[in-house]
Amino acid sequence: MNIGDRIGQTQWYHTIDLGKFGVTAGVYDHREYLPFYGLPSELEGWRVLDVGAGHGFFSFHFEEMGADVTAINPRDWREEDCVPSRTAEWAVENATPNDDGLLLAKRVLKSNVSYRRMSIYDITPARLGLFEMTFCGSLLCHLMNPLMALGRIRAVTTKVAIVATIVLDEPNTERRPFCLFTGLHNRSANTFWIPNHIAFQEMLIAAGFSKVNHVASFTLRSRKIPGEGGHHAVMHAYV
Ligand SMILES: C[S@@+](CC[C@H](N)C(=O)[O-])C[C@H]1O[C@@H](n2cnc3c(N)ncnc32)[C@H](O)[C@@H]1O
Repeated sequence: MNIGDRIGQTQWYHTIDLGKFGVTAGVYDHREYLPFYGLPSELEGWRVLDVGAGHGFFSFHFEEMGADVTAINPRDWREEDCVPSRTAEWAVENATPNDDGLLLAKRVLKSNVSYRRMSIYDITPARLGLFEMTFCGSLLCHLMNPLMALGRIRAVTTKVAIVATIVLDEPNTERRPFCLFTGLHNRSANTFWIPNHIAFQEMLIAAGFSKVNHVASFTLRSRKIPGEGGHHAVMHAYV
């Protein structure tokens, strides 16, 4: 199959401009949400780790900003957390390998992003080295052990981690650190925890960061499935 056909047949998560091959029909278009992440104005010379990179929108963006980027993502559903009683359902939903799109886009863009098939739980300085900036977008809610995962991020970060996740948007839960467990009744078989803003901040401190700033909140909206996406908060966590 030629590249154009492969691009056309890929179920894109990210909307990525592939130049002469056009713009991918992503479920999400993060281009309009970029300002909410409060990214540094340039990343020249920084090592940046993109954790749970999906199809690589952010990795390619960081590379354009001058960073030396490593992207990690598990190869397929077997290495992702899912509700044990819904494994069969999760397997059917995720029959295609996760990284087909990233590898295809990387080839078309002639990108030097270094891609590793790996879970966030397996990140260590010995395996990947250290990074001035670590980015983790829309992944924490899909993890059974988000606190352990944040500890892994802390261990490889030397300046700042930029972490975005779905948060509770209910004013009456805002006074205490609070996480909603969504493992049983959620439509998707792989969401577990939704913190409120305070819990999200405190989890980053508990994982070993010394200062955490809440940078922005926004509602990510799917371009394909009405109601999909979720209210996100973005935190900058400093070493
Ligand atoms: C909702 S997508 C977010 C993609 C991208 N980070 C963003 O912000 O748009 C979650 C990504 O995390 C990956 N993922 C799931 N479990 C993971 C794990 N244990 N370690 C690393 N990545 C994981 C999924 O395969 C998927 O690519």
